Amino acid sequence: MVRQEISGGVAVLTLAHPPVNALGAALRAGLDAALAEATRDEAVRAIVIAAEGRVFVAGADIGEFGKPPRPPMLPEVLARIEASPKPVVAAIGGAALGGGLELALACHARVVGPGARLGLPEIKLGLIPGAGGTQRLPRLVGPEAAFALMLGGEPLEAGKALALGLADALEPGDLVAAARVQALRLAEAGSWSRERAERLDPGARAGFEAAAAEALRRSPDSPNVAALADAVRAGFDLPFGEALAVERARFLALLDDPRAKALRYAFFAEREAARVPGLSRDTPRRPIRKAAVIGAGTMGGGIAMCFAQAGIPVTVIEAEEPALARGLDRIRALYAASRARGSLSAEAEAERLGLIGGAIGLERAGEADIVVEAAFEDMAVKTGIFATLDRVARPGAILATNTSYLDLDAIAAATARPQDVIGLHFFSPANVMRLVEVVRGAATAPDVLATGLDLARRLGKLPVTVGVCFGFVGNRMLARRSAAAERLLLEGALPHAVDAAIRDFGFRMGPFAMADLAGLDIGWRTRKATGGVAPVADALCAQGRFGQKTGRGFYRYPEGARAGERDPEVEALIEAESARRGIARRAFAPEEIVARLMYPMVNEGARILEEGIAARPGDIDTIWLNGYNWPAWRGGPLHWADTIGLAAVAADLARFADASGDADLAPAPLLARLAAQGAGFASLAGPAGPA
Ligand code: 3HC
Repeated sequence: MVRQEISGGVAVLTLAHPPVNALGAALRAGLDAALAEATRDEAVRAIVIAAEGRVFVAGADIGEFGKPPRPPMLPEVLARIEASPKPVVAAIGGAALGGGLELALACHARVVGPGARLGLPEIKLGLIPGAGGTQRLPRLVGPEAAFALMLGGEPLEAGKALALGLADALEPGDLVAAARVQALRLAEAGSWSRERAERLDPGARAGFEAAAAEALRRSPDSPNVAALADAVRAGFDLPFGEALAVERARFLALLDDPRAKALRYAFFAEREAARVPGLSRDTPRRPIRKAAVIGAGTMGGGIAMCFAQAGIPVTVIEAEEPALARGLDRIRALYAASRARGSLSAEAEAERLGLIGGAIGLERAGEADIVVEAAFEDMAVKTGIFATLDRVARPGAILATNTSYLDLDAIAAATARPQDVIGLHFFSPANVMRLVEVVRGAATAPDVLATGLDLARRLGKLPVTVGVCFGFVGNRMLARRSAAAERLLLEGALPHAVDAAIRDFGFRMGPFAMADLAGLDIGWRTRKATGGVAPVADALCAQGRFGQKTGRGFYRYPEGARAGERDPEVEALIEAESARRGIARRAFAPEEIVARLMYPMVNEGARILEEGIAARPGDIDTIWLNGYNWPAWRGGPLHWADTIGLAAVAADLARFADASGDADLAPAPLLARLAAQGAGFASLAGPAGPA
């Protein structure tokens, strides 16, 4: 696991623990032993720690968290590196994250390659650095800069790390050779034993405290932001060794926090979602060099921007010139806004615009390796387009639809090549949202699915494979939540109370504010096409209240207001609707609102698993975490249901079904079975990671 080569007075210890050199027990022990040996060996004057593969070290082994500790622990190994009688230099070619960067910080110098990325992302796992990061980083780059890095969790590129003093040298050529030279230089100068300050400079305290206060103001309930601030603060108040102990204690306490467990679950669920039944690394892929997008609306434009960002030339196709011009103008305006914000350089803007072309008529899709249809959500429109694409697309081209509800197999049946048809359900705004539901039709060929997944990753997206059903995974579950929210209105809750309960649960927006933002007419149109009913929303739409865009929806939006205000007219309408149906209104506590909205979603998730529409509970949770802003620290709806206990969820659902007479609310067979067994969704073949 650790290769050791000695030449010219330098021992190069190469970590070789694929895929990412995570610092599990065996690697820690191997490194510890190799260090001890190099320290003993008189032929060795200096030590370099390098790594095999494209990642230097991805950090502690997250899979070990929550299990009994297996010595040597990382802080001990790092203490020995720091105290080494021979200088130790880290040679970092790729990502050095979490414990990986902490390892590098314990070394006496860091030489980085151009591909290095240095960061402490523990905050994203609900943790804080636990192997000296909160002490060694502030001493190296200053408390304020260090706090900002640990709070953001985003890694720094090599050049920025060098500018900050986190890296000592940037070597574009032979990294290990450069690290050897550096190590020998330190040994020769005898000055490698960097004098580490016992305490942080009191002069830097005010700046740090201001940053910490701001961070706590923004995240008042976050346990790890407070712990991070406390750990850094300990560096001012206590000697190094004691401050390290404060950090470690806070880190270990956070490991057991259910919020951190949920984030770890999500980490592994996301990676597990990449393993798709029936596909392997050897599944052939089709080359994608050129793309076409059908439809220049908001969705089509956003998808075209994704292709351009990935460097793939794309033609946006419309039926008529004005619609095309409007669509291309919208893309230009979005790029201009990004440039004005400073998030896009003029050069990148020109490059992307250069990759986006416009054309009239489906015939122009003939050269594309992939065509993504993002036209009006209507089966006749879609089958018409696919029938034409079948005629004009080149043989072997992938024909994708961005439909969010419709039957992919029916769309594929409009072609004579259903094996080439796939769903790529982007979320709005497509150029921003990370999730793509990749829909596998009954006839979709494995190489088409594999290519679709690879392409989504190339576009910077997180693809999750789903099967064909109305609304696929995300929207099918969302429909349950929307129906439950409508029912609550009729039974006595008001929109602001429902939204407040859902915000308190952790969503950024409640369902009614969300509906107002998206436009009530969208759901109305779908309901009309599919025979759905939502008494309150339908009545609002009938009055032309389509949400924010008309200034009125579930809330009213006075000129210039960003947040909606309660509207007595809407509340009167809701109460009248209850009365008309003979429903006696009553009050609902926030917890009851959450249960009423979320349990039916969980139930639908169980049905989705039973039907094989999603391969694992983790896939469903990944979809909700990345497409619907489910609060990350709750781990997704199914993980959350497990934390409550499925027996309690099933019992409540049975009660809801009885009270409403809606049999759909009764526990799905899978949910009932798990509940009866005292098991959770986690007991199904789920994410590989531990609890
Ligand atoms: N522990 C255990 N397994 C890890 C891991 C880690 N820290 N990091 C990655 N892996 C595993 C993944 O689960 C995946 O396994 P799989 O192939 O079986 O699914 C495999 O390594 C490859 O990972 P990715 O698919 O994520 O590979 P990428 O190339 O896309 O990304 C990466 C590489 C940027 C290193 C990314 O894996 C990553 O961000 N890893 C986590 C980094 C992190 O959060 N580190 C902090 C850990 S906490 C810590 O260090 C505490 C310390 O302070 C004491």
